Amino acid sequence: MSEAREVRGVKEVRNVEEAGYGAAGRADELEFERMFERKNETKSEKRISRSVEALKPSGIRKFFELIIGREDIISLGVGEPDFPVPWRIREEMIYALEKGITSYTSNFGLYELRESIASYYRKFGVSCGVENVIVTTGVSEAVDIALRAILNPGEGVLIPEPCYVSYSPLTTLAGGVAVSYPTTPDFVPTYEDMVKLAREAEGRGVRIKAVMINYPNNPTGVSYTRSVLEEIADFAVEKDAIVVSDEIYAELSYSFKHESIASLEGMFDRTVILNGFSKAFSMTGLRVGFAIAPEDVLNAMLKIHQYCMLCAPVLSQIGAIEALRNGEDDLEEMREEYVRRRNFFVKRIREVLDVKKPDGAFYAFPSVKETGLSSEEFAKRLLFEKKVAVVPGNAFGECGEGYIRCAYAVSMEKLKEAVERIVEFVEGL
Ligand SMILES: Cc1ncc(COP(=O)(O)O)c(C=O)c1O
Repeated sequence: MSEAREVRGVKEVRNVEEAGYGAAGRADELEFERMFERKNETKSEKRISRSVEALKPSGIRKFFELIIGREDIISLGVGEPDFPVPWRIREEMIYALEKGITSYTSNFGLYELRESIASYYRKFGVSCGVENVIVTTGVSEAVDIALRAILNPGEGVLIPEPCYVSYSPLTTLAGGVAVSYPTTPDFVPTYEDMVKLAREAEGRGVRIKAVMINYPNNPTGVSYTRSVLEEIADFAVEKDAIVVSDEIYAELSYSFKHESIASLEGMFDRTVILNGFSKAFSMTGLRVGFAIAPEDVLNAMLKIHQYCMLCAPVLSQIGAIEALRNGEDDLEEMREEYVRRRNFFVKRIREVLDVKKPDGAFYAFPSVKETGLSSEEFAKRLLFEKKVAVVPGNAFGECGEGYIRCAYAVSMEKLKEAVERIVEFVEGL
């Protein structure tokens, strides 16, 4: 790996700021106040669509903008792996670029990549063909086109919270109704809750068309066992709903092996699996993901994708082929490091805060309820008093109030320093 790097004589950097492309951060109190201000600042109300006008900006992104490039702040805020893209993947992409491969691909994505994805997913219990796979510009796009392909105006999507920030806004933009609900204290959805919510929604004239799930979960790190998946599947079958299953952290499962909900009997035909290369292979900026879906849904997604995106970047698709072919060793190394960090974080932070041991991903979701501070007060004071950035739990839904999300996608050295500062902060309250 390093040999190729040395031959080129290139100094490796960790992020765009280090490479000289980033602006310095601007984390002052005023910016921070603005970040949490829910008020809409747009002056051109008449020019902007009402649904967009009503959207709240993503709490995480704004946070990221604030602290970008600030060397004095340790950020456990953003869910971005701190590992560079494995060298073998870079090498394939560089080689492709040298050959001048810079064209569009098929709207579906490179055939070879789709084939690799179809056989890769056997690992998570799913047998599918190339015709079930579309390559997208990250899971972000895949969530969007899946919801737009499924929803008619006014149809509902059940969204268990706390959850990733895009599900509810993208449901709204697709013309649907986001029916968000709090999960159990262990952060799992239950059949009873889903039935109750669906009944209430029907009472308001909203039919539940889809169920959104994400496991291992951002922000809680919780994953779903087979019995939880069976409850979701039972509900979906009873209600004839489609499950949109965001499995972007599938490879980063530590407590037990990841199983796709689509592998449960009868579920393939009513599941849209979303996954990608950003997290497991540390390829965030390369923007490549995929969806696996029954053909009718997939073709509907393709129609939207071809108009709004055309195709995922070709070089990234070439890198993704290499990731699936030969990336397992790099992945294993990163996975082991995340486990080490998780174990360290949980053990030390439990001395001052209550936290559930994450099953996967690279997030922990400690409760700050006992400190008497709200999530936002805690995050704000921690940032300004101890220069550690975490995301307030309510950025992931109302029931995230009383928690903070800490991403352990930073080096062990930084993580240790950050945790000591958090412990000091809580003990000083
Ligand atoms: C649960 C979840 N889904 C989707 C995404 C977006 O991933 P991508 O980089 O593939 O667009 C993220 C990124 O943080 C995520 O946590």
